[in-house]
Amino acid sequence: MALVTVDNRIKSVVILGGGSAGWMSACYLGSHLQGSVRLTVLEAPSIPKIGVGEATIPNLQRAFFDQLGIEEDEWMPEVNASFKMGIKYINWRTPGQAAPVPRKMGRGTDYFYHLFGLLPELDQFPLSHYWANKKQAGGTDQDFAYACFKEPPLLDANKSPRWLDGRRATNYAWHFDAHRLAAFLSRVATERFGVEHVQGEMQDAVLDERGHITALRTKDGRTLSADFFVDCSGTRGLLINKAMAEPFVDMSDYLLCDSAVAASVPHDDERYGVEPFTSSIAMRAGWTWRIPMLGRFGSGYVFSSRFTERDEATKDFCDLWSLDPAQAELNQIRFRVGRNRRAWVKNCVGIGLSSCFLEPLESTGLYFIYGALYQLVKHFPDKTFNPVLSDRFNREIETMFDDSRDFLQIHYYFSPRNDTPFWAANKELRLSDSISAKIEAFKAGIPVDQPVTDVSTYYGNFEAEFRNFWNNGNYYCILAGLGLIPDGPPTLTYRERSVARAETVFQEVREQQGSLAASLPANHEFLRRLHGNN
Ligand code: FDA
Repeated sequence: MALVTVDNRIKSVVILGGGSAGWMSACYLGSHLQGSVRLTVLEAPSIPKIGVGEATIPNLQRAFFDQLGIEEDEWMPEVNASFKMGIKYINWRTPGQAAPVPRKMGRGTDYFYHLFGLLPELDQFPLSHYWANKKQAGGTDQDFAYACFKEPPLLDANKSPRWLDGRRATNYAWHFDAHRLAAFLSRVATERFGVEHVQGEMQDAVLDERGHITALRTKDGRTLSADFFVDCSGTRGLLINKAMAEPFVDMSDYLLCDSAVAASVPHDDERYGVEPFTSSIAMRAGWTWRIPMLGRFGSGYVFSSRFTERDEATKDFCDLWSLDPAQAELNQIRFRVGRNRRAWVKNCVGIGLSSCFLEPLESTGLYFIYGALYQLVKHFPDKTFNPVLSDRFNREIETMFDDSRDFLQIHYYFSPRNDTPFWAANKELRLSDSISAKIEAFKAGIPVDQPVTDVSTYYGNFEAEFRNFWNNGNYYCILAGLGLIPDGPPTLTYRERSVARAETVFQEVREQQGSLAASLPANHEFLRRLHGNN
């Protein structure tokens, strides 16, 4: 008897929305599904995308662009990209008025760097712990990042992380223009991956008797049918929250900021150089980002509407950069903090702002998009929609989000600032059990979430990085940067030979710092060549 095989494969996917999430989804699915599924993006040109200047993290190249076969030197000029070697936290420790430069603090000034990359390890402990051991014994007053990473002097001197011949010297990420990213990816999706682009505003979604979406209807009378729907409609969550009625879990009891005011500020690159890092400047009721690009920087004050009025926040922001509020083009933004209870429900998955959002303190927005896409293709269903696939996907998204939420919260919680109602209120919030356990481990001198792999395997393997995203180096940068130094680790007091060997590693770090600072070009020089302005 001949077997009748039923083809249950998904044949068509409609993506609703043409912001970063919509076009990243179109490209990623186009690349991974290898032409076997018809992909359509429905986008309403009349409904604006969020499109503020974006900062990213280093795995954007490996986990996203490499998957599409797009080299860094191809996409960077398309989106006016610049380099980001880390984040400079300014005035997160001392009370006072908002200022773009660090205030005096003890014998130094109030700033610290959050850098990328794993620290060298010897005898089971990363270098961070030898630094803490030395610091506790009064053997150093050097800051953690300067003692353990090769990058700080490069950031101080506005150096490029690449030599002029293109070779890479350090770990880095990028800043770029979000509108240009969406435009570039829309060309890639339609030209390389055959994605259909439909312009029109969705009016409603048609559901069948099981509650699955079968089609989207547009205001101009078109019907787009598909087997699977990706909601990239932004904070409206038109499919996942509205059509599927999935609740959004508000997390404003962990993170207080819910608004931003943003603008683009002209900058004289020749005179001041282009900083190869994002700045995060502490403010009365939140913080301001500064994202340098050629000829200008993007900036925005992320604030809590519970602790400052929008007008007051706008004034504080304009004062910071000497902008005239009547003349400046200000982008006023309101956002929701949290995630959907489930990111994937029946035949609809939310990606991007429709799924979850954390304020941009650690630039996680785009990472959450390609992190979710990575999990989606791994769990991609057929028309039977086996719930094991969506359940597992949902757990991955929950962990990805909640872990990052906790990491952001400790920035505020452990900041010594208490001088305004906002900073004081952050100390009253509850930390999750998971982060509390990590903080206990940190204080006891145990590495927190230290990757079990070495540098080469960790960064070559997105699965390993995804599972262990914020690791010992990240926790150390933030907590030690804010002034929290662990008590231990007691183990190192038994190991004089290891401690002596660590001195050689500290010396190597210093030598690398010196030779890189002497040989790398200025950041703006590299960028001008790359963007063809030289
Ligand atoms: P977005 O809102 O951009 O797009 C929604 C799309 O849906 C639009 O194309 C719209 O036209 C369409 N749409 C809506 N309704 C429709 C309808 N009825 N019919 C058809 N189409 C419809 N991330 C990061 O990685 N680094 C960073 O530095 C920052 N900084 C930052 C600052 C601030 C203040 C915010 C609020 C966000 C960030 N982000 C970020 C997050 C980042 O901006 C965001 O994750 C991405 O831009 C993704 O946005 P979406 O595409 O999800 O929504």
